[in-house]
Amino acid sequence: MRVPVYYIAILLFCSSLLLIIQTATAIDTINTTQSIRDGDNITSSGGNYVLGFFSPGNSKHRFLGIWYGKISVLTAVWVANREAPLNDSSGVLRLTDEGILVLLNRTGSVIWSSNTSTPARNAVAQLLDSGNLVVKEKGDHNLENLLWQSFEHLSDTLLPEMKLGRNRITGMDWYITSWKSTDDPSRGNVSEILVPYGYPEILVMENSIVRHRSGPWNGLRFSGTPQLKPNPMYTFEFVYNEKEIFYRYHVLNSSMLTRLVVTQNGDIQRFAWISRTQSWIIYLTVNTDNCERYALCGANGICSIDNSPVCNCLNGFVPNVQSEWEMMDWSSGCLRRTPLNCSGDGFRQLSGVKLPETKTSWFNKSMNLEECRNTCLKNCSCTAFSNLDIRNGGSGCLLWFGDLIDIRIFVDNKPDIYVRMAASELDNGGAVKINAKSNMKKRIIVSTALSTGILFLFLALFWYIWKKKQQKKGKVTGIVRSSINNPGEDLDLPLFYLDTLTLATNNFSVDNKLGEGGFGAVYKGTLKDGQEIAVKRLSKNSRQGLDEFKNEVKYMVKLQHRNLVKLLGCCIEGDEYMLIYEFLPNKSLNFFIFDETHSLKLDWPKRYNIINGIARGLLYLHQDSRLRVIHRDLKASNVLLDYEMNPKISDFGLARSLGGNETEANTNKVVGTYGYISPEYAIDGLYSPKSDVFSFGVLVLEILSGNRNRGFCHPDHNLNLLGHAWKLFTEGRPLELVSESIVETCNLSEALRLIHVGLLCVQENPEDRPTMSYVVLMLGNEDALPRPKQPGFYTERDLIEAAYTSNSSQSKPYSANECSISMIEAR
Ligand SMILES: *[C@@H]1O[C@H](CO)[C@@H](O)[C@H](O)[C@H]1NC(C)=O
Ligand SMILES: *[C@@H]1O[C@H](CO)[C@@H](O)[C@H](O)[C@H]1NC(C)=O
Ligand SMILES: *[C@@H]1O[C@H](CO)[C@@H](O)[C@H](O)[C@H]1NC(C)=O
Ligand SMILES: *[C@@H]1O[C@H](CO)[C@@H](O)[C@H](O)[C@H]1NC(C)=O
Ligand SMILES: *[C@@H]1O[C@H](CO)[C@@H](O)[C@H](O)[C@H]1NC(C)=O
Ligand SMILES: *[C@@H]1O[C@H](CO)[C@@H](O)[C@H](O)[C@H]1NC(C)=O
Ligand SMILES: *[C@@H]1O[C@H](CO)[C@@H](O)[C@H](O)[C@H]1NC(C)=O
Ligand SMILES: *[C@@H]1O[C@H](CO)[C@@H](O)[C@H](O)[C@H]1NC(C)=O
Ligand SMILES: *[C@@H]1O[C@H](CO)[C@@H](O)[C@H](O)[C@H]1NC(C)=O
Ligand SMILES: *[C@@H]1O[C@H](CO)[C@@H](O)[C@H](O)[C@H]1NC(C)=O
Repeated sequence: MRVPVYYIAILLFCSSLLLIIQTATAIDTINTTQSIRDGDNITSSGGNYVLGFFSPGNSKHRFLGIWYGKISVLTAVWVANREAPLNDSSGVLRLTDEGILVLLNRTGSVIWSSNTSTPARNAVAQLLDSGNLVVKEKGDHNLENLLWQSFEHLSDTLLPEMKLGRNRITGMDWYITSWKSTDDPSRGNVSEILVPYGYPEILVMENSIVRHRSGPWNGLRFSGTPQLKPNPMYTFEFVYNEKEIFYRYHVLNSSMLTRLVVTQNGDIQRFAWISRTQSWIIYLTVNTDNCERYALCGANGICSIDNSPVCNCLNGFVPNVQSEWEMMDWSSGCLRRTPLNCSGDGFRQLSGVKLPETKTSWFNKSMNLEECRNTCLKNCSCTAFSNLDIRNGGSGCLLWFGDLIDIRIFVDNKPDIYVRMAASELDNGGAVKINAKSNMKKRIIVSTALSTGILFLFLALFWYIWKKKQQKKGKVTGIVRSSINNPGEDLDLPLFYLDTLTLATNNFSVDNKLGEGGFGAVYKGTLKDGQEIAVKRLSKNSRQGLDEFKNEVKYMVKLQHRNLVKLLGCCIEGDEYMLIYEFLPNKSLNFFIFDETHSLKLDWPKRYNIINGIARGLLYLHQDSRLRVIHRDLKASNVLLDYEMNPKISDFGLARSLGGNETEANTNKVVGTYGYISPEYAIDGLYSPKSDVFSFGVLVLEILSGNRNRGFCHPDHNLNLLGHAWKLFTEGRPLELVSESIVETCNLSEALRLIHVGLLCVQENPEDRPTMSYVVLMLGNEDALPRPKQPGFYTERDLIEAAYTSNSSQSKPYSANECSISMIEAR
């Protein structure tokens, strides 16, 4: 039988049409007769997201979830059966005739369901290209009429367009809750949630305990999140109307992938996908330091991460329980020095702060500042007021009643807040009146805190302007450009082009080489705009180097303190791995203290300042940063000096963080530098913040004496520097330790105190050694110090034994006969 050609053509056309229709409808939608089994999946129309079954991490359970469709790393953004894991791959997702999504296990029991309120006539479930799984009437494309949507039942991830907030009509909250662990998507105990009290703000809660607060929205951002600012990746908004209150963000280019995640350890992190490296980077972390801890300084306290200790009372307030406050337990907070007198009070302006908790607040969007002030004055329980919106010169009114909670200093933050004060507190123009209970010391602390605060604000402003300028320049010359195709303005870790760095360092010429760092050579570079940088280039084929590189990035991105070196960015291209730091012109501490001529440039005040700076940097690492980092390789060559000889701790290649309540950890591989590492670490591989304290003690004694601990020689005995210092101390002549180059400028009582503190830090038993917060306290006052016990490793023999017992490849056994000062440090 002959079949006409046109007939075949029509047949082919029709069947291909059928095929197109079938794939087009089957791909992102299911109806009530279809189902998704484990192994099947549906993909949103543009391919952005996939819905299917998966096992997170090392889990053996199966979960129904949504993940990214276009990237290789399975990253789940939503999970349906968080609390009801499937034990095998028999799970099935169906849509009932009523329009309810149900997830069934092998025996057909419903283990999870969507609870659509209004029954549907002809429901379909569709995965939208925004990542939203919706149930709707077939053919109804109006997003207002959705019967159910996954965007109203969030997991741990806030995607672009998702709302974090509350529906004021139904009272439904949209919030994100952490996973229990990377293997277990069930609800952890950390949530990020918008609380609708007073003027709303966003809280991070651990169960019912508040951990962190965003601060109220000020028109531009939440007042406690200066990181949230215009950037090349996303825009954000806060909407407050009769129907709903929410925070939401939008990506500027839909090919950029970014997500905001709440983690089980309480971090709010924004990730960005870098396609070149096929990995996620942390774009920013919201709560990174101790001052972010909710109400750390108690009622009416103020936190400043650059102060030590970080808490102070607000001006005009004094500690509630002085003894607790002195022990750095600030929870009892502060009280007014002079009680308010309802009629005759005034206000003191406080600038550059995160606004206090708005739980007991009141607001009016149309009042101006003057009306606001008058309203506050009229109500005796009103304690502070501020503009609600800082845009266009400020508008609106926000009033606080009762104690002011959780204030911290933030540099370029507005608006100002006006704190109600008794008239007598204001009369003497801000000068501090001391009551009978307080003593001279407090006066000094308060006034220095004030003046440094003001100085700090100025510096910060200056820095801000300078940085803005730099950024502008950067944009023009295209220095900082990340692979996600933006000028990297607000990336926590901008990516540099290899070309830029090759040019800046004169093709990594020997002349530009500054030295060898932990895992490679360091070069000086000058960018086109004149900015000086230091480029650390990982030696090729160094496996250990790569680990240290990653480690360094991991920590440096999250650590910021004036006594830590600042990481400007990194470069990963081909097999090149580089880190870019601020350039510090004065090299490292070892260059000065161990050299006869250079040591003259470091007089006593500078050395004293350096020791204090290192102590503060370490205190930040151990306690005030959220990561609780142990450096593990503190030594003179890892302390760099800026123009003004301020110390900056560098090289975090070996750093470790201690999770949660851990105080000690163990390692099989002892790394670090002999001469600085503590006995328990060298011998048993045990490290804790106390091992850093030991290294700090060694460093203090080295700075004072101008001698290296390792390789120290003395004609009279066989002891190392620690032993020598200990001998002099017990014989009552500690000052003989002090280097000749500083004897003249030296303040004897300070020097004695430092020797004493140094010896306390190097005591053999880690438990006897003080914590860094105690060290900082000891350096800052004149109270009597405890008597140190014998130091660890005080004879050369100890060192040799340690070097043989541990099988570290990084160290050669040290010979006692070899009496040479020019011993090269291992590593
Ligand atoms: C569901 O979709 C399939 C395939 O498109 C179709 O054959 C079936 O008739 C649909 N069922 C209903 C109830 O719409
Ligand atoms: C979706 O399922 C198809 C087969 O049904 C499979 O080939 C594909 O890899 C799956 N996609 C994802 C992202 O799991
Ligand atoms: C998994 O197995 C446990 C115990 O065998 C059972 O209690 C649980 O209901 C099962 N879960 C599901 C989702 O079937
Ligand atoms: C299915 O779920 C029900 C209810 O959770 C449970 O009792 C049953 O054991 C589960 N079946 C299987 C095979 O896990
Ligand atoms: C859906 O379920 C949640 C949690 O179980 C419940 O709070 C909410 O009221 C339910 N909504 C409807 C419309 O049933
Ligand atoms: C939250 O969970 C962690 C373990 O994941 C636990 O250590 C912590 O105590 C919990 N917090 C509260 C407040 O229960
Ligand atoms: C979005 O990003 C992609 C890839 O980086 C780029 O090709 C595209 O031009 C960008 N689109 C817009 C509108 O900027
Ligand atoms: C409050 O201040 C006014 C004026 O300064 C004064 O007359 C009045 O006595 C004060 N009242 C109290 C209770 O101190
Ligand atoms: C807010 O302030 C305006 C101007 O003072 C006033 O007219 C309005 O009534 C106030 N609204 C409320 C709710 O107090
Ligand atoms: C002061 O403000 C509080 C809180 O809004 C309110 O409860 C109280 O009634 C006010 N008092 C006066 C006298 O207006």
